[in-house]
This record gives sequence, structure tokens and C-alpha cells, in this order.
Amino acid sequence: MSDLRGEKMRITSIRLSNFRSYDELIFEPSEGLNIIVGPNAAGKTNILEAIFLSALGRSHRTGRDIELINRKYHGAYINIELKSGSGRHNIELRLRDNEHKAIRIDGQKLKRMGELMGVLNVVMFSPEDLSIVKSSPLERRRFMDMELCQLRPTYFYRLQQYNAALKQRSGLLKAAFPSPPDPMQLSAWDERLAALGGDIMMVRDAFLRELGDLACEMHGRITDDNEELYVYYKPNAPFSGEAPAAAVHSALSCSHEEDIRRGYTTRGPHRDDIGIKLNGEEVRIFGSQGQQRTAALSIKLSELALMQREKGEFPVLLLDDVLSELDCDRQKALLSDAFNCQCFLTATSLEGLEELENISAYECYAGKLTRII
Ligand SMILES: Nc1ncnc2c1ncn2[C@@H]1O[C@H](COP(=O)(O)OP(=O)(O)OP(=O)(O)O)[C@@H](O)[C@H]1O
Ligand SMILES: [Mg+2]
Repeated sequence: MSDLRGEKMRITSIRLSNFRSYDELIFEPSEGLNIIVGPNAAGKTNILEAIFLSALGRSHRTGRDIELINRKYHGAYINIELKSGSGRHNIELRLRDNEHKAIRIDGQKLKRMGELMGVLNVVMFSPEDLSIVKSSPLERRRFMDMELCQLRPTYFYRLQQYNAALKQRSGLLKAAFPSPPDPMQLSAWDERLAALGGDIMMVRDAFLRELGDLACEMHGRITDDNEELYVYYKPNAPFSGEAPAAAVHSALSCSHEEDIRRGYTTRGPHRDDIGIKLNGEEVRIFGSQGQQRTAALSIKLSELALMQREKGEFPVLLLDDVLSELDCDRQKALLSDAFNCQCFLTATSLEGLEELENISAYECYAGKLTRII
């Protein structure tokens, strides 16, 4: 048993059948740094995507499961074996055209997607993560939700319930349009959204405080204390001094007129955002490309540290094509953290990586992985 109580989660075997570009792939990764090298379109990201999917039940790059099935077939299968503090586990995903995916953990079929959260924890860092810093609030909420769903399964359920209630409230507004909806019904939904939204906001607030402190520390380390990073929660219904649920409730009550006119719910945590400032200025607006990239990196590395702190073991780290985007010092900062975890790293060449100790490298080509180091 003792070897299972390691300080990092690790995948011992990955099997893909008819997933994306693969017909059949069996991959037994090492417990340290696994480098997957190959030309563009070789299928490197597809492997990371399969791991991510097994952790969160959804792909990091598409919401359409059908895209994940190899175009030559009508179904795909993923099987991942892993070791974590709670023992050995097996995750199986079966995808079929026009059907919901079926997931099994240790042979047991899942009744709810939430049961998957936390079995395999991952942190993915890819060039698209720049969108946390650069893009719309939607991307930042997605980042925060992704992390929190893995850390706290109850958060995942709350979010599902909140989204369902939000849909109902908007349905009510639309159905009555252009007349106002039944005020009793509307205020019943206000109350439901306030209760669920308040819970979500409390979790987000605590999470961002902790993440913010870590990110500030991390960014100082990477930039030799030349830049100060400030990451903070920007709730759509500000709640200093009052309970978040009360703040949502009054925001909803005050916006009835506006909501009726627009036909949707204009206020609430589905409109929350994260503020990211460097030396006091919004990175999204004033930061250089390199500063934005480094801010995203600091946030990602804090995510890793936070997960380790909360779960008592490091998650699996997925680094997709990120090294080429960073200068030497930033690469070093990233890789020194990667060595604490089992890590999967994709790159188009091994240049600069061969000197690293304790690595395994695999060439990805024509639907196969061949070990080269
Ligand atoms: N459903 C599918 N069926 C068959 N092939 C697919 C499917 N989805 C994607 N592919 C193929 O997978 C390849 C892309 O794989 P992937 O994104 O893993 O490449 P990569 O090695 O990460 O490349 P890059 O270095 O450019 O990021 C493309 O050739 C694409 O056509
Ligand atoms: Mg790729």
C-alpha cells in the first residue's frame, strides 16, 4: 500500500481506440517528465486531450464529442489507469455518434458526471491559456470553474443547479415577452438563484484569494521581483460587508425592468470576472505579449501549487506546446515545477531538452509513439 501513497498522481497506462487521429494506441508513460515530440498534426495534442477528457469529462478544445471520434469509425474508447493517494483507479470513456458518453470508474458506471471530478486531477497549460489573460470574462470563468470542479465536487453540482435555474428564469422572461412575467414566479427564481449563486460566489472568493497570493509569489519568482501581479475576484454582484446571496438577490430584484426588456438575466455570478493587474495596470489592456504570457504562466503554476496544497498530492501536468513561447528563465521556472509532477510535454523538437535528467521521450508519428529516450 505504501507505494500508492505517493505525493503525486500518476498515470500508468493510456489506451486509445479510434480516438481522434488514432486507431489503436497503448502508452505506458514514466512517472516523471514524458516528452512527446513530432511534427505538426502528428497527434501529440490528441494524447493530452484524451487525458484532460478523462479528468474533467470534457475536452479542452471542443464541446462536441463527435469530433473526438476518429472519422473512420462511429465510436471511440479511452482507458486510463492511474495511481493516487486513494489507490489505483481505472477510468474508461466510451463515445458513440449521437449518444451521451458513458464513463466508468473502476468498472462502475457513473450516474452523474460530478462523480468523475477529483479521480484524476490535471492542470493543462497550452498556448490558448493566454486567453485567461487576454480574452473575455467567459474564458476566465471557465478557467475558475474548471479548477474548482476538480477541487470541490459540490461546486460542480451547485454550478449545474445554478445554470439550470438561470435557464428557467430566462425561459420565464422569454415566454412572457413582451409582457412582464408573473411577479411571484420571477421572485421565486430570484430567491433560488440568490441562494445557489451565493454559494458559488463564496467558493470563488476564497479560491481567488488563495490563488491570488500564490500567483503574486510565483510571478515575483519568475520576474526576479520586477513585476507585481495582482489577481482578484470581480463579482458581478459586489458583496463587501453583506452575504453574497443577499447581494445577488438585491442585484436581481433591481434589474427586473432591464431583464424583462432584454429577455434574459443580466446580473449574477454567471457574469463574474477575474481581475488581473501588473504593477497596478490591467494586463489585458496594457501588458506586452510577453507579460501577458508570463501572467498566464504564473496563474497556471499557482493552480498547480494550490491543487497540491488542497489534495496533498500533485496533479498530472499537461504542457502543450508551451516551451517555444517562453524565454530561457521562464522555461526553467516552468520545468522546475514540472519535475514535482508526472508531466506530459509536447514539442516539435527535442532541442534544448535532451540535457534534462530523468526524462522519457517518445516520437509521435503516423499514429504511433516510439520511445527514443
Ligand atoms: N476525429 C478525427 N478523426 C481523424 N483524425 C482527426 C480527428 N480529429 C483530429 N484529427 C487529426 O489529428 C491531427 C491533429 O492532431 P493534434 O492536434 O494532436 O496534432 P499535434 O501533433 O498536436 O500538432 P501541432 O504540433 O500542430 O500542435 C490532424 O491531422 C487532424 O486531422
Ligand atoms: Mg498540438
